[in-house]
Amino acid sequence: MFIYLTRAVPEVAIDLLANALPDARIEVNPHDRNLNRAELIEAAAGCDALVCTLADPIDATLIEDLGPQLKVIATYAVGYNNIDLQAAKNRGIAVCNTPGVLTDATAEIAVGLLLACARRMTEGDNLTRQGLFTGWAPLLHRGHGVYGKTVGIVGAGRIGKRVAATMKHGFGCRILYHSREDHVDWENELEAEKVELGELLSRSDFVSLHCPLTPDTRHLLDADMLKLMKPTAVLVNTARGPVVDEQALVQALREKRIAAAGLDVYENEPALAPGLSELENAVLLPHIGSATMETRDEMGRMCARAVIAVLTGQEPAHRVV
Ligand code: DGY
Repeated sequence: MFIYLTRAVPEVAIDLLANALPDARIEVNPHDRNLNRAELIEAAAGCDALVCTLADPIDATLIEDLGPQLKVIATYAVGYNNIDLQAAKNRGIAVCNTPGVLTDATAEIAVGLLLACARRMTEGDNLTRQGLFTGWAPLLHRGHGVYGKTVGIVGAGRIGKRVAATMKHGFGCRILYHSREDHVDWENELEAEKVELGELLSRSDFVSLHCPLTPDTRHLLDADMLKLMKPTAVLVNTARGPVVDEQALVQALREKRIAAAGLDVYENEPALAPGLSELENAVLLPHIGSATMETRDEMGRMCARAVIAVLTGQEPAHRVV
């Protein structure tokens, strides 16, 4: 049996695999970077199991090129927009992900970005480091308060709900949400109001994106939608970059048509849209929503367990297809 991991993951995952499948050949990409298609095929061809990340485009051709032995693709992520599920399904390959374990970690980053933007924390940090803090002053560096404001959550999954609950219970915020389905639990537990996207954008002081990337959500926030937001509003994206038209967002931030944006994800990751990194009113993180020691260990264990299950003829716990 041959198991290939496209990036180094926490050691706990390798230990689990090695203990459960002592005869397996386990290989890990030795480079501190993502592999390109040719490198990935050369390294992983003939594998029975592939542990990939969200940065690996796993399309139909790649699945074909990896060979007929491939039985399971375990992605070290909850999102699986980078994987051609139909192609995997056609070949009877199980695709597994890591739902649930990164809810808290990602919600923390979303709330952190929201606060950092509202209170202009990174701008303040820069100012202080540059020696420009010349003493307390009434007009120095005023941001926007968070308590009691309106938070709009786009996408009503686990992470969105955790952010909504934090903002409701921790900051007394009013919660609006936009989702295809009704969520009675949101309405009962959080007194949340379900609204259309346009209404959410125009009423919210803070908009946080928590929907998956699908053909329907690509550029969900385009130039026209961004125009609906308040000039004092903050946009937070910890979901997937292409949900926002990043160039249009740069324009909106530059013209101060919205107050700020806190981004953990980018449209063409790891590249940033031209001009984004020069904007003071953007807080930019390197896609670290799930990056806590605890969560990344658990994501590793979940991938290992998925591989072990499939390769030993059992049903994996979190199978997407
Ligand atoms: C995911 O899991 O989809 C996150 O974006 C990275 O952990």
